Amino acid sequence: MELIIAANWKMHKTVAETVDFCRAILQNEALFKDVEVLICPPFTALPAASDLLRGSSIKLGAQNMHWEREGAFTGEISAPLLLDLGVEYVIIGHSERRQLFGEDDSRVQIKMKAALENGLKPILCVGETEAEREEDATEKVIKNQLFVALEGLSAEQADSLVVAYEPVWAIGTGKAALPRDAETASSYINEVIRNKFGKEAVNKIRIQYGGSVKEDNIGSFAVLSAIQGALVGGASLEADTFSALIQAARKAVLS
Ligand code: PGA
Repeated sequence: MELIIAANWKMHKTVAETVDFCRAILQNEALFKDVEVLICPPFTALPAASDLLRGSSIKLGAQNMHWEREGAFTGEISAPLLLDLGVEYVIIGHSERRQLFGEDDSRVQIKMKAALENGLKPILCVGETEAEREEDATEKVIKNQLFVALEGLSAEQADSLVVAYEPVWAIGTGKAALPRDAETASSYINEVIRNKFGKEAVNKIRIQYGGSVKEDNIGSFAVLSAIQGALVGGASLEADTFSALIQAARKAVLS
């Protein structure tokens, strides 16, 4: 399966900064062969990124969406509004949305359904907090998050799904998970997917690792059999650093 490496910019970058980044990353496009590269800017920078990346192999994602197509939902952005800008992917259930904005599993579930029904490919984030890890509850947490998020979806709908395993304690801390722990959790995600959608689904659904991914450590995750990419926050903000990270992943997989 092709690696998928996504940049999650969170609440960073003006339009001008986005333009600079896109111009710079496009210079390196030829070096990203066989890797699906994806940028998820803030909503305000999507039109500029869309204009610049159109026709290139670099794809566009959103960081969140509302589940209704349109209506009286002040401050929200729907799937059709994202599709209108050429957005292909959408991050759903990021731990920052769960922890800071009260997004619970039932919200994640309706967003997943809405994304797929509208033709957006979801990147579903799952992962345990530090306290849950200390209680040895990682698998239980992942299982519950997946069960609710995937409820009501068909195996066919799930084909385009990407699951990001992001241990909450590893996000933005500089303390990435150990590759063997990421592999154990990702294998468990595969087991849940196999039980729910059948073994074919495991060959189609890609799993990313996320949490303090950098150029130095991406290789150790990219080579793992249960992991096919990364969701990158801090290290995705500079075009040079992000390009180097993508190349490091490619090199690790090819060697
Ligand atoms: P980080 O963020 O790479 O800065 O740890 C990852 C994420 O939140 O997706």
